[in-house]
Amino acid sequence: MKSNFESRAWLQPRVSPHGAMPNVTGETGFAMDECKKGLQELFVESDTEDKSYTITLALSESIPMESYNFQAFENGIKITGGGESGLLYGVYGFLSRIRRGEKDLFKEVEEIPAVSMRVLNHWDNMDGSIERGYAGKSIFFKNGRIDYDPQHLTNYARLLASVGINQIAINNVNVTPLSAKLITEEMLPDLAKMAAIFRPFGVRLIVSVHFDSPVLLGGLSTPDPLDEKVAKWWQEAATTVYRYVPDLAGFLMKADSEFRSGPMALGRTQADGANVIAKALKPHGGTIYWRCFVYNCMQDWRDTKTDRPKAAYYHFYPLDGQFDDNVVLQVKHGPMDFQVREPNSPLIGAMNKTRQAIEFQVTQEYTGQQIDMYALPVQWEEVWNHPVTDTRNTLDLIGKELEAITAVANIGNDENWTGHLLAQANWYAFGRMAWNPHLTASEIIEEWAKLTFGNDDNLLNPLCKMLLDSRLAYEKYNAPLGIGWMVNIHHHYGPSVDGYEYMKWGTYHRADSNAIGVDRTREGTGYTAQYHTHVRDMYENKNTCPEDMLLFFHRLPYDYALQSGKTLIQHIYDTHFDGVEDVEDFIKTWESLQNLLPEEAYNSVRGRLERQLENALEWRDVVNSYFFRKTGIADKKGRKIL
Ligand code: GCU
Repeated sequence: MKSNFESRAWLQPRVSPHGAMPNVTGETGFAMDECKKGLQELFVESDTEDKSYTITLALSESIPMESYNFQAFENGIKITGGGESGLLYGVYGFLSRIRRGEKDLFKEVEEIPAVSMRVLNHWDNMDGSIERGYAGKSIFFKNGRIDYDPQHLTNYARLLASVGINQIAINNVNVTPLSAKLITEEMLPDLAKMAAIFRPFGVRLIVSVHFDSPVLLGGLSTPDPLDEKVAKWWQEAATTVYRYVPDLAGFLMKADSEFRSGPMALGRTQADGANVIAKALKPHGGTIYWRCFVYNCMQDWRDTKTDRPKAAYYHFYPLDGQFDDNVVLQVKHGPMDFQVREPNSPLIGAMNKTRQAIEFQVTQEYTGQQIDMYALPVQWEEVWNHPVTDTRNTLDLIGKELEAITAVANIGNDENWTGHLLAQANWYAFGRMAWNPHLTASEIIEEWAKLTFGNDDNLLNPLCKMLLDSRLAYEKYNAPLGIGWMVNIHHHYGPSVDGYEYMKWGTYHRADSNAIGVDRTREGTGYTAQYHTHVRDMYENKNTCPEDMLLFFHRLPYDYALQSGKTLIQHIYDTHFDGVEDVEDFIKTWESLQNLLPEEAYNSVRGRLERQLENALEWRDVVNSYFFRKTGIADKKGRKIL
């Protein structure tokens, strides 16, 4: 029989090494209930009468609402929260310590989240499918309706809150005429019931809305944001929504993007579009998250002037200062689209008078689709450490230019939530990183591994190493040196070097028999000019451009000598052979851990690793053959390339 090990994720019931069941006193309420519930799972075999120490729960107005601290006393610990949610986070933080078997159980801490908006975006459709979902169907929708298992949503809410996620957008940014109705009285009663499940956990809902709603739902002749009737329609819609869900966090909008309608098509600006909704949400305390994923998705591949990475900055930067104060511009972390390796978007932190959110993707669209193992926090840590100016990096923008950290969710109704069990680490990591982006990937992965699998170093060390290495391994057999995109079209899994080469999406590598890459320096498309001088100069110069992004910024001949002394073509061959070997090593490592793992977990991951190996082999052979045939240059090591 299947145990529920995988579905418990990082909230495993585990016998605590810390003596008997503690007593809990103080502030009664949801946090206390959660504390007692959690403790019962951790002290299953202990005598409840034998009180080894006391946990006191308290509230204090002198610290921010969502913060908490631990103070040690002789006979226990006091957990103080700035508000209900702060106290709840404190409780989860303390339970996490017990679960991880931390020795210094009463260590004092003060925790303040780095940003107040820590958000997951679900790309769930109302028919139950999930755009770019790799873990089953939606847990929110079925057959065109809101339809869920309340207990399952409660479990989900607890997992979210335990890592500090406090907002979720429940529906796909690609809003359909049907999902547009989520903000109408037809669906609001159900939405209100759903919000009530998340509320005690401090998780607020966001609804993705359709730019054409005034037409689709209100019967108006235009969605023009400068039309008074349109403004009035949004105001009335917002008033109705907030009657049902008074704490709705706000709306999310994808406009003028990938065939979505938007203000641009009407000759209005993105600010016009965002502000009309912002004004409607303002009296209710709501935020409009306005995505900046605006680019020409109808490009003629023969057009070498248009350069997709320039688009977000080009469209939004000139509008700095024009957005209302409850607009948050949501910017993808890279200028392309969640590729394995990209520089940071030059728009991030560039708008001093505009609030911004950075958007990550936990669902592994381009990073192995939860078949291949890929530890995303390793990549995110790099994003935070990218320079923005000569003295600041992305991390320095947190809580200032960057007020929200968002990501596309990776869960579905699969029993283990994420398809690949180890992809739970990415979900966990997103929450922890959004709470504290200063945590390293290695710290977060170790925490997750201990919570999920227990405290045995014989298991933890190889497991954490494997995860930390997984990003680089994937990159090795994927597209080389930051060029991205060599994927099969539409579904984006597996290699197709020219898959997107002659298409309309603006994603070209322009490989010929002599050279590969797009010159994005001032000699080329001029993309680099969107960065601060120091950063621009670093990317422009082939010698200072980080080598793993060389082909993002430069067009280079195949015999170009890399820092290693290898030619570019030899680097491509070598990394692709190495990447496959890395996956073979992962399989060996995993097999060596069999006796230390629950059978169910061992088997499910073993199966995924097999599929990853097939994928890696496919990538290796397709990419190497492509370049061998294009260039006629043989592998120096004489390996078989067809
Ligand atoms: C990618 C992805 C789409 C998604 C889009 C977005 O292009 O492939 O499925 O809709 O990003 O972020 O809006």
